[in-house]
Amino acid sequence: MRMRLKTVFVLYFMVSLLGLIYALMQLGQRCDCREHNLPKERAISRLRGELHRLQEQIKSEETKQSQNQPAKASIPTIFVITPTYTRPVQKAELTRLSHTFLHVPQLHWVVVEDSQHKTSLVRDLLAKSGLSYTHLNVVTAKENKLQEGDPRWKKPRGVEQRNEALRWLREGAQSQQGVVYFADDDNTYSLQLFDEMRNTQRVSVWPVGLVGGMKYEKPVVEGGKVVRFHTGWNPSRPFPIDMAGFAVSLRLVLANPDSRFDSMAPIGFLESSFLQGLVTIDQLEPKADKCSLVLVWHTRTEKPKMKREEALQAQGLGSDPDVEV
Ligand code: UGA
Ligand code: MN
Repeated sequence: MRMRLKTVFVLYFMVSLLGLIYALMQLGQRCDCREHNLPKERAISRLRGELHRLQEQIKSEETKQSQNQPAKASIPTIFVITPTYTRPVQKAELTRLSHTFLHVPQLHWVVVEDSQHKTSLVRDLLAKSGLSYTHLNVVTAKENKLQEGDPRWKKPRGVEQRNEALRWLREGAQSQQGVVYFADDDNTYSLQLFDEMRNTQRVSVWPVGLVGGMKYEKPVVEGGKVVRFHTGWNPSRPFPIDMAGFAVSLRLVLANPDSRFDSMAPIGFLESSFLQGLVTIDQLEPKADKCSLVLVWHTRTEKPKMKREEALQAQGLGSDPDVEV
């Protein structure tokens, strides 16, 4: 009886052990799941095929585009130099300008503040602009600055700022492939203007609208050359041309390290003070369909009246000074 019980016990033990071994073996076994996974594999291979087809399509589109137009990096950079100063309309002017420049490929905006310090208004605006830019500042010496009530024409404006930008260009070991354009912050610029100036060899010129008390001023072109200027005042100036009416090649600016704007230049001679060391009239390159198109306008923004603001401020009810305008 005792023997039988022992045998039963051993048998029971053996069967359990075998069961356990079988279960463990099953765990390590690879199951034949192919049948089960087939739809998933098919979907993956279909998607792989689709991905490959799309990658090929993108590649061929890119090749087509690069054959049609030159790569951005190979077109000359336009360095746009803008002097600017603090006043109620400054943010509006710079916003408008930045939106124009965003449409122009390969443009670098050099903004030079006429101030002792860089302001947070300009710094933040540039940082959010989405443009490639350089932010500089230099304050105009007091004796060269217009005083309250002075007529606008009494002193030239933005002179030291443009010279500061020229210094930056010359110091910066920039690539030689470039164009320099002086764009005041209040003018209006068409996009076509930038196409016109892009391939300037020395100095290119074009008409400027609404300037000098006229509908437009412009170089007069005969036989493809500038022969004189259509202007209302002193046509015998070396270059009777507005700041907005010319662009200079970067190579020429770098080759003439001393050329700059003269803050002592008599009224109307500021542009001449810079250009006369760089180029002669017969070397000028007329653009904008032989200078027959107006692509830039010498607009001026009205100075806003602040009478109500001042009255409210006197009552302690002025607009919140923390709101940037
Ligand atoms: C005209 C020309 O278009 C300017 O290029 C030239 O500098 C000016 O005359 C001059 O005679 O100096 P105008 O409209 O009379 O322009 O000048 P503004 O637009 O008042 O000033 C030209 C640039 O200098 C602007 O970008 C302006 O923001 C800047 N500026 C003006 C300063 O940086 N500081 C100032 O105190 C005043
Ligand atoms: Mn202006």
